[in-house]
Amino acid sequence: MNENRVPSHVAIIMDGNGRWAKARGLPRTEGHQKGLEAAKRIVLAARKEGVKFLSLYTFSTENWKRTTQEVGFLMSLIRVHLTKELDFYRENEIRIVHSGDRAGLPGEVIIELDKAIEDTKHHHALTVNLAINYGGRDEIVRSVQRLCRTDSPHIDENAIQQSLDHPEIPDPDLIIRTGGEMRLSNFLLWQSAYSELYFSPKYWPDFMPEDFHAALADYAHRERRFGAAH
Ligand code: IPE
Ligand code: IPE
Ligand code: MG
Repeated sequence: MNENRVPSHVAIIMDGNGRWAKARGLPRTEGHQKGLEAAKRIVLAARKEGVKFLSLYTFSTENWKRTTQEVGFLMSLIRVHLTKELDFYRENEIRIVHSGDRAGLPGEVIIELDKAIEDTKHHHALTVNLAINYGGRDEIVRSVQRLCRTDSPHIDENAIQQSLDHPEIPDPDLIIRTGGEMRLSNFLLWQSAYSELYFSPKYWPDFMPEDFHAALADYAHRERRFGAAH
């Protein structure tokens, strides 16, 4: 692939874990377990393809509406993964950052998240942005709230951008959603203004490096105009 056409930032809405499990007569939690394996596969694929930033929609501000059992399982899956599999990020030189409202997360998840962020902060091969307790509207509100707490708040596009969770990360060039639904579900609302969108019918646990490559190949043929004449 022409290097110039490799997206710098890819964001993924990893959807379809529950339906993957249901189709096999398994509990939804099994789908999430397999979804974590898919996430690790795609992190390595992104690194190999030369992507620099990969945002993974892991848990939305709306996902608290699920049963306490499912929410508890997801939180413990995240915590255990960060605790036990830090070597995966170390060996592959991957930096972890977090987007979302920390304050709403269980204390033991915050502790492991902070450890992982600190431990991987010098890695340069790929930045994985874990969106946990993340909502696009919530991020914009928190950004404006931060600005309003400053001495002489000045609100414009640049100021809101600079107060987002990770102002240093470029806007996503490509947003991929698996699982067949064609919506953003509150992901990166501010940053997606000019993102290219790609939808895959595959459930997330079935998403393979070849599928990721196909999305990147599709992106390579898109013409991006950002409102300019062509
Ligand atoms: C995405 O899969 C994972 C999370 C939202 C945490 P879902 O759990 O939404 O799977 P479906 O959409 O019910 O199949
Ligand atoms: C989006 O998926 C959130 C994540 C993938 C973490 P959902 O399954 O929550 O989205 P909706 O409810 O189908 O819009
Ligand atoms: Mg879903």
